[in-house]
Amino acid sequence: MSLFGAMRTPRNLVFGAGQRGALPGYAARLGRRALVVTDARLSEDADFRRLMDGLKAAGVEFSIFDGTIAELPLECIAKGVETGKAFGVDLVIGIGGGSCLDAAKVAALLLAHPGKASDYYGEFKVPGPVLPLILLPTTSGTGSEVTPVAVITDPDRAIKVGIASPHLICHTAICDPELTYSCPPVLTAVSGADALTHAIEAYTTIRRQPTASIVHEHVFLGKNALSDAYALMAISHISASLKRACENGNDREARERLMLGATAAGLAFGTAGTAAAHAVQYPVGAMTHTAHGAGVAVMMPYVMEFNRSYCELELAEIGQAMGLELADKSISERADATIDAVATIFASIGIPKTIADLGIVVAQLPQVAEQAMSSARLIKNNPRPLDLTTMAILVNAAFTGDRARLRANAGARKIN
Ligand SMILES: NC(=O)c1ccc[n+]([C@@H]2O[C@H](COP(=O)([O-])OP(=O)(O)OC[C@H]3O[C@@H](n4cnc5c(N)ncnc54)[C@H](O)[C@@H]3O)[C@@H](O)[C@H]2O)c1
Ligand SMILES: [Fe+2]
Repeated sequence: MSLFGAMRTPRNLVFGAGQRGALPGYAARLGRRALVVTDARLSEDADFRRLMDGLKAAGVEFSIFDGTIAELPLECIAKGVETGKAFGVDLVIGIGGGSCLDAAKVAALLLAHPGKASDYYGEFKVPGPVLPLILLPTTSGTGSEVTPVAVITDPDRAIKVGIASPHLICHTAICDPELTYSCPPVLTAVSGADALTHAIEAYTTIRRQPTASIVHEHVFLGKNALSDAYALMAISHISASLKRACENGNDREARERLMLGATAAGLAFGTAGTAAAHAVQYPVGAMTHTAHGAGVAVMMPYVMEFNRSYCELELAEIGQAMGLELADKSISERADATIDAVATIFASIGIPKTIADLGIVVAQLPQVAEQAMSSARLIKNNPRPLDLTTMAILVNAAFTGDRARLRANAGARKIN
């Protein structure tokens, strides 16, 4: 297949300790009246207040909406949009974890277009540009500051839903690792595990024939030469820093590398997409009320094993990016070592081993498999084609912890 690359990125992306200080300058170039979307934890923070003082000094008026709730239930977004409408905003700034950034994205959408969030569920439903958006993450995890998707909890839906559109990519992303120093170890672990999963899924996702219409047919295009570079960069930084940042939150180098890796992972999956590990997490998270990052990380080694005959070379290359000692090993042995190493990193930061450990009971397994299959944008991106039967095999293995059995069930090899 010929070389193909595509990237969808913010207009500006700046990374580095202290770069949050660039916010007022960027904001003043984009608008005069900003809706600042955050949560109650951050709005009380002295550093956040200093950032707001900077906005004021730059001549940007603002109204703060700090009602974002983790995992983003629909009703909290509506209140944020009301705040923005009442203030007459021309700019949205999101500061916080993935939930705040996604809330800001949906607010920017609903302040520019009529209707409600559910009108835009799915891919390519957003009809045009949203309000200019500036996003500042405070976790090293979701990559939402660079991605074209917002993930919402809708009480009318059994599992979380996504609005996926290139129009949701922010104008300016400011990634300042100093904003993550306050993350406690468990948050560092689950959000960092999410980021590593983004990079691995982006690097192993399907590779589509690059027709001239591919960029208009899929928000998430599948793996390509550009997303691959960011995925490998992310894997290298995150695998070297995740455990260190969990063990010592003041480890400056680890915090920096983890955030750089998480943003790079966002760039990779924001174009390439994620796949089965994310598809299974949606029902598992809804049934067990466990964190997104914990669920995708539990699934990742099983999904790698399940997909291995379709992406063995990629798995070997992931191991190389992780810095594993792979000389003299065959491709298959390298893939084995990579899957083991990913499982070891996750175990070392306290990620459970099975979905049973997350609280799934045996009677829920058919429902988990069925609902996982309903995430069309994720299922179509998995390198190994999925149907309900094979999804059930994957989900059962992640329940019993039997990775070896998945190997026996690895399916026919893909022929390129
Ligand atoms: N849009 C995307 O591309 C994308 C990708 C993956 C996940 N997500 C979504 O992002 C959400 C998860 O985001 P998250 O993992 O960043 O967590 P989060 O935003 O849900 O926050 C979890 C908790 O951590 C707190 N927190 C955030 N930053 C902190 C800090 N620096 N110090 C102390 N506490 C802090 C928050 O106040 C909150 O209580 C989920 O809703 C998930 O579905 C979105
Ligand atoms: Fe994720």
